[in-house]
Amino acid sequence: MLSRQLGEKLKKYETPFYLYDIALLRQTLESVSSAARQHGYKVHYAIKANYDSKILSIIREYGLGIDCASGNEVRKAIEMGFDPKTIVYAGVGKRDKEIRYAIEQGIMAINCESIEELEVVNQISCEMGVRTDVALRVNPDIDPKTNRCIDTGQADSKFGISYEEIIAETPKIQALRNLNIIGLHLHIGSQIRELHVFENMCNKVNVIVARLERMGYKFRFVDVGGGLGINYDVPENEPIPNFASVFSIVHNHLEVDGKEVHFEFGRSIVGECGELISTVMFNKTTATGRKLLIIDASMTELIRPMLYGSYHNIENITADTDTTEKYTIVGTACESTDVFDSNVTMPTSRRGDLLTIKSAGAYGMSMASNYNLHDLPGAVYSDEIE
Ligand code: LLP
Repeated sequence: MLSRQLGEKLKKYETPFYLYDIALLRQTLESVSSAARQHGYKVHYAIKANYDSKILSIIREYGLGIDCASGNEVRKAIEMGFDPKTIVYAGVGKRDKEIRYAIEQGIMAINCESIEELEVVNQISCEMGVRTDVALRVNPDIDPKTNRCIDTGQADSKFGISYEEIIAETPKIQALRNLNIIGLHLHIGSQIRELHVFENMCNKVNVIVARLERMGYKFRFVDVGGGLGINYDVPENEPIPNFASVFSIVHNHLEVDGKEVHFEFGRSIVGECGELISTVMFNKTTATGRKLLIIDASMTELIRPMLYGSYHNIENITADTDTTEKYTIVGTACESTDVFDSNVTMPTSRRGDLLTIKSAGAYGMSMASNYNLHDLPGAVYSDEIE
């Protein structure tokens, strides 16, 4: 863990801030791109996980494309120099102006999530006098065996079009003259640690692709989304996720000969490269005897524990004592749910100590807010520390 090596050196930066391990980011990118190359797979980075400009410019060096969830994400990717032909854009609620912008930029595909959206993209394309490349985002109805807050591919989810609806509406879909339906897209959920789920996904996709192609669709690519999980419990054991194992499952089970296969990884690329560094402000004990450690970060810097009950490993990186205490670690926000973790055994912590909240590179900074008029956290990059 980089912060542990740096320790006191980090005290010169104003907390809270995100600390990014640039060497680890590069190793992770090397790992995902070399494993993908072996199978000829294409990888898009899910920009929603972290849109820090320096991180994006490093990701671009490794030739990844981008997966977006809004018009502004498409704009950011384009401003950062990503080739529009490597940008995909999903999302259940795209505004007309976002659709128009994506069409103007000539991105790889708009991944459409409802029949009505297909009709609107067709209508806007017609007005603009173009044919637009789109993919059908299908809801495959698969249980990704993850936190239910972040599963996206079960039958009742808001994401994607049900397979049955695609089949039923095929005459209508195929009559949309200003669309080129060039791909099939799905994303079943995030933080998937049970890799056999990806095997189930492939088996489903095989059936869907075969059936839809018999109905006259001709897909150039299948985009199976992201979702590979990381080790929040003991990040030191697994700093780089096992991309090769997911690719090999897909290689062994996906039967889509001749088609491009795309992935959209977010968390697994940046999650372990970031830590949230915060200072202990105050100690206090509640009337019930609970020892609170009040730190200068809060849900405004990292909302995952409060929003999903997610676990992040927390460590005191500057303590100089062998005694320990059991703490509830709380933030500064005016919310009772602003708790990072309870019952954490840590070295006795004092005002001024630095804590690291690990595995915070994904969905940390990108979900930060100004609530209570907090400042947004800064960023410190390992290769710029003297
Ligand atoms: N593709 C699509 C269409 C997605 O919706 C997502 C994530 C990804 C790819 C990237 O998934 P990943 O590889 O990162 O699992 N804020 C939540 C996670 C939300 C994920 C949203 N979609 C969290 O902090 O756990």
